[in-house]
This record gives sequence, structure tokens and C-alpha cells, in this order.
Amino acid sequence: MPRGDYGYDAPYALGIFGMLAAASGIGAAVAWWRMPPHAAGPITLYFVLFLFNTASFFYTTRHGKFVEWERILDRAGLRGDEMVLDLGCGRGAVLVAVARRLTTGRVTGVDIWSTKDQSGNSRAVTQRNAALEGVSDRVEIETGAMRKLPFAEATFDLVVSSLAIHNIRSRADRKQAVAEGYRVLKPGGRMLIADIRSTAAYADVLRTLGAADVRRRRLGWRFWWGNPAAATTVLTASKPRPATS
Ligand SMILES: C[S@@+](CC[C@H](N)C(=O)[O-])C[C@H]1O[C@@H](n2cnc3c(N)ncnc32)[C@H](O)[C@@H]1O
Repeated sequence: MPRGDYGYDAPYALGIFGMLAAASGIGAAVAWWRMPPHAAGPITLYFVLFLFNTASFFYTTRHGKFVEWERILDRAGLRGDEMVLDLGCGRGAVLVAVARRLTTGRVTGVDIWSTKDQSGNSRAVTQRNAALEGVSDRVEIETGAMRKLPFAEATFDLVVSSLAIHNIRSRADRKQAVAEGYRVLKPGGRMLIADIRSTAAYADVLRTLGAADVRRRRLGWRFWWGNPAAATTVLTASKPRPATS
């Protein structure tokens, strides 16, 4: 279990689900008390629906996301000596999970620290989480925007991103962020992007740039943001090595 505190993703969305569940719950209670059962049924259905959405979102942001990322990283089979970049690392949920798998390698997190996208988001909190997890020696944290990364071409063996790129408003900027991630990847390197939407567009960008093995996989209930319509998809791709003659 994580020792750090990783906050809540999109806290306003969780708040909205929670308020809708509470309001429909009160409405259902009043309806069952004052109205005939056939009239109380529909509002009870809404209550169950909103309660399910709230519980699913809460579970995913506090637990499911961590379980699924462990699985994604297990499949990636890191050696331990990689240079890794986490785009939109936030409070460090994935950054720390990667760092735990490194020995001589290093993981760098880059973020603009939006508290709308993650509660209590800040560089200091991420540093504290890395310290609490005992991985500070393998972690570097930078402030910066994904669409203009402060790193040279071919710096990283692995670029990961969790639920971050969709937060960029313009489609062109989201594409630019994916292209930037690919630019800083070494030949032979890999990308792992988990996101709630737009992953087909990310895949198109990567294919256009010449990426190989571009695949998308929809993840299960542990990574739903309320319901199956808001499931997370993981995109994997690699950067081919130049052909030798
Ligand atoms: C939902 S949080 C996810 C954080 C973390 N990856 C995780 O899974 O816990 C999205 C993160 O993306 C960051 N972010 C949003 N737009 C960004 C941008 N243009 N450049 C860098 N980070 C960005 C936010 O500040 C936030 O930390």
C-alpha cells in the first residue's frame, strides 16, 4: 500500500458525483415516505446510479489506479537501469511506482501542478511522497508543460503518462504533447500512456511519427471513472531503432 498521499484526481468531478448521489438519496427517502412506490422508483434508480458512480470514481482514484499501474509496469518488464519520464506526474502515483522498480535508473516527473486536475497538487507534495516511499534518490521533478519539454531528443528509455494528456484543452496541443514525448524517447524506447479519452488520436500521432507496435487496450473496472463509459485505455508504442546496413 502507498505510504504517500496521492490526493484525488479531478476533485470537482468526484464532488459533483457525490452531490448528485446525496441529493437523489434525500429525494428517494422523501419519495418513499410521501409517495406511492411506483412514483418513488425512478428517483431511487437515479440514487443507485449516482451512488455507483461516486463509489467507482472514489475507488479508482484512491486504489484501482495504483493496482492497474502495477500491472502495466509488470508487463513492461523494466530492467532497473532505465531513464524514465512521467508526463503530468502530479503527486507521483506512477512516478513512485516506477522509481521502486529502478536500481541504477532514474525517473523524472514533469508537471504544471494544476489543483483542478489533482487535489493538493504541488512539487513539494510530490517530493514528500517520494521521500515517504524511500525513492527520492531515483526521482527528479521538473516544473514544465508537456507540449514543450525541457529535455533533449532521445533522452529517455521509457515515457509514461497517467490521466494527464486529456487535461490539455486544445487538440493540437494534446498532439504536440504526444509528439514531444516521442521526441525525447531513445530509439528502442517505449511509451505507455493511460488516459480516459483521445487515445485513438494519440495513436494516430505516434503512427505518423513512425512508432512501431502501437496498441490500445481498454482496462477493467478498477480503472473506471464512475462507469464503463469512462474507462481508462492504455496505449503502448515503441520507437524503432534505425536500420543498420
Ligand atoms: C489527473 S492528474 C494525474 C496525475 C498523475 N499522473 C496520476 O496518475 O496520479 C493530471 C496531471 O496532469 C498535469 N497536467 C495537466 N496539464 C499539463 C501540462 N500541459 N503539462 C504538464 N502537466 C500537466 C496536472 O497538473 C496533473 O498533475
